[in-house]
Formats: sequence, structure tokens, C-alpha cells
Amino acid sequence: MHDILDLDRYPLDRSRSQEWVALVDRCKADLARDGMFNVEGLMRPDAVRQAVSEVAPVLNSSAFTHKRSHNVYFRNSVPGLAPDHPALKLFETSNQTICADQIPDSMLVRLYNWPQLAGFIAATMDKPVLHAMDDPIACANVMRYTAGEALNWHFDRSEFTTTLLLQAPLDGGAFEYRTDLRSDDDPNYDGVARMLRGEDREVHSMAAKAGTLNIFRGKNTAHRVTPVVGTVARIIAVFSYYETPGVRFSDEERIGFYGRAA
Ligand SMILES: [Fe+2]
Repeated sequence: MHDILDLDRYPLDRSRSQEWVALVDRCKADLARDGMFNVEGLMRPDAVRQAVSEVAPVLNSSAFTHKRSHNVYFRNSVPGLAPDHPALKLFETSNQTICADQIPDSMLVRLYNWPQLAGFIAATMDKPVLHAMDDPIACANVMRYTAGEALNWHFDRSEFTTTLLLQAPLDGGAFEYRTDLRSDDDPNYDGVARMLRGEDREVHSMAAKAGTLNIFRGKNTAHRVTPVVGTVARIIAVFSYYETPGVRFSDEERIGFYGRAA
């Protein structure tokens, strides 16, 4: 894994060492303060280039075009909310998606299945263990956003998201987020509507560099990726880990996200 990751700087392979504990503590502090942490330059530049060269032909030839209108909840209706409430405003998301089963021998799938990565992420979130999915399609995905494409405003359904940026665009494609816009007890629909109108000054923006691992808690923090501008696409890998072993997507979920059940 030394050829892929900068383990001199980030000792993910030396679990429980002093340096590993220090890194975990830093990530925990960032997570508590910002709802996310970044491990900048975790993937070495040469490895990033190789990872892109492995996925680019598959993205070109056999990606699923994921394109849909959605609101922040990814639900057609919300109990107790009028259908015309501005919190339910629709936005468009569009990207090209490929799945782990299309790149089985890639560097990215090898990294996803490396137990020390899941172990490190688990430690940053005080979980005893995190498991890879038992799903050869949903476990690891790569999304590409070309000019004009965006991941629009939403709350995540999972507790946290693990991403690795492989290619940053020249312009646009910024990650924007509004920390704790809602809570488990308070949906704050009017606050959601205000933010969607562009009137929330607490929206922050983050530009990441290729090779950066990001862990993000997006259940109550609204977020989006702004439309990509220019000829260089944004390419990002998404890794899914769960506290329980054996997690699989249903056929319905697979069709919704990837356009196929198997
Ligand atoms: Fe998200």
C-alpha cells in the first residue's frame, strides 16, 4: 500500500502507534468542530494519476448516467409539509457513475478493501469496527461530473460519507455545506427554504485537492457540489462502510443509483 498512499505522513498501516493515535485525534477534533475531516494528499500523486487512468476508459465506455430532479430529502413528499413548501424545491443532479464490479482489479477497489483504511475511519468515529459492504456494485463507486453537472443540495441518508477526490476541476465543482441546518429533533423547514433561496450566510465552501480523503457527516448538514466549469471534469470515488457486516443494496436501490440490479 506504500505505493498508493503516503504512509510516511499518514501511518494508517501502523494501527495504535503514537503517530497513528495523533492522526486519529486530529481527525476527531476536526470532525467535532467541522462535521468533517480531510486527509490531504493521502493518495500519492502518481497513484492518483494511475487511478484516473484506470477509471477513465470505463467512465467513457460504460458509465451509468445518473440524472434526476430531487429535493433535499430525496423524497417525493414529506409528512406534515405542504407539497408547495419551498423546502421541497427541486434541483437537478447529474453525473456519470461506475461501480466496483466494473473495475474489479483497480487500485481503488484494492484500497477500499484494505482493512486498515476501514479501521482508521472507524477509530475517528469511535466505532469498534467498520465493515466493507457485501455488495460488489454499491460498495465503491466513481462519479464524474463534467461541465455544467452538479450534485445538488441534499441531506445524506447515511451517517457519514467517505470520498477520495481523484481529479479537481479547473473551476466550479466546489463543495458547499451548511452545518447542522437541521437536527434529529427539529427539521427546520423554514431554515432549509431560506438556505435554498441563497439567503443563509452560514453556507461554507471547501475546495479540495486530488488525493484527499474526506469523511463527512451529512445527515443534518445540507450540502452540494456546485456545477463544474471548464473542460476538466471532477472525478471522485465514494466508499461505503457500515457498522454491521453483510450490508447490501436492494434491487430497487441499485436500479435507482446505477440503472441495473445486477
Ligand atoms: Fe451527500
